[in-house]
Amino acid sequence: TIEQGTLLEQIRVWKEKRNALILAHNYELPEVQDVADILGDSLALARAAAQTAADVIVLCGVHFMAETAAILNPEKTVLLPDAEAGCSLADSITADQLRAWKQEHPGAVVVSYVNTSAEVKAESDYCCTSANAVEVVNSIPADKEVLFCPDMFLGSYVKRMTGRENMHIWLGECHVHAGIAPADISDTLSAHPQAELLIHPECGCSTSNMYLLAEGQLPADRTHVLSTSGMLQRARTSSQEEFIVATEVGILHQMERQNPHKRFIPANRKAICPFMKMITLEKVLASLVEMRTVIAVPAETAKRARIALERMVEIG
Ligand code: 13P
Ligand code: SF4
Repeated sequence: TIEQGTLLEQIRVWKEKRNALILAHNYELPEVQDVADILGDSLALARAAAQTAADVIVLCGVHFMAETAAILNPEKTVLLPDAEAGCSLADSITADQLRAWKQEHPGAVVVSYVNTSAEVKAESDYCCTSANAVEVVNSIPADKEVLFCPDMFLGSYVKRMTGRENMHIWLGECHVHAGIAPADISDTLSAHPQAELLIHPECGCSTSNMYLLAEGQLPADRTHVLSTSGMLQRARTSSQEEFIVATEVGILHQMERQNPHKRFIPANRKAICPFMKMITLEKVLASLVEMRTVIAVPAETAKRARIALERMVEIG
């Protein structure tokens, strides 16, 4: 439409004026994905934020992603086009709760998923994303107790993959992925028995899928537990024609765009993250024009959180 065309042109003009880089997560609205300079999973966005030469980073994603960019790049201005774009998973553990948990396990190594507040990261030894959680935990000496937070489904997946007994898992969840249930997988798979399964480890079905896989009830050669960018890569390289996608449905835009002749079936069509969808083209433009909302992390918190985040960016 003319309106969208004008918006896109204005975004381009203001992006140049501000020397800005637009980063977008794979769950953003299609038109926001299309305007991004870099589209990716949490790890790719953190890495892009750490490396850019731009003065301003517009983070089309949620609050913890903008905080991560700000921590890794303190001299840049990081803008979140809607300051209310939060994350139910990040809200499932506070820094006070983590401090109390650490006191119960003195000497334990804390691994926090990147979906956490800057204060929680500052209390952590390592951060990880879904793309490198297994590698991060494997990098910790086997005799060390591990506290993994906040996602219980990713935690139990990592525990299974690493075979680590001395790993404690916080009982947090993402309400969007927790809603993708075991029945969603079995129902979709009976309707599409030849399809390949792409499953995000935050999903409520991921734990039971591990048991089903072990029992041979899921096709081992066609089941893949991956981050969002891992799923996109698999969809491009697999020779399969049909895929069941168990994650937030925003990812289907790129999958379909990159593979026009393949078929993608969401495991649960209602898996929509309301926070990711708060970012619109209008808000992206307003954020560039008005330089808002600036996400800054207090220096002392950022300094401690950066150590955990830099370990995450380096591993995997
Ligand atoms: P990834 O894109 O890193 O797999 O993360 C998924 C997610 O839920 C981000 O909020
Ligand atoms: Fe948070 Fe879940 Fe939304 Fe990702 S999909 S931002 S984990 S609420």
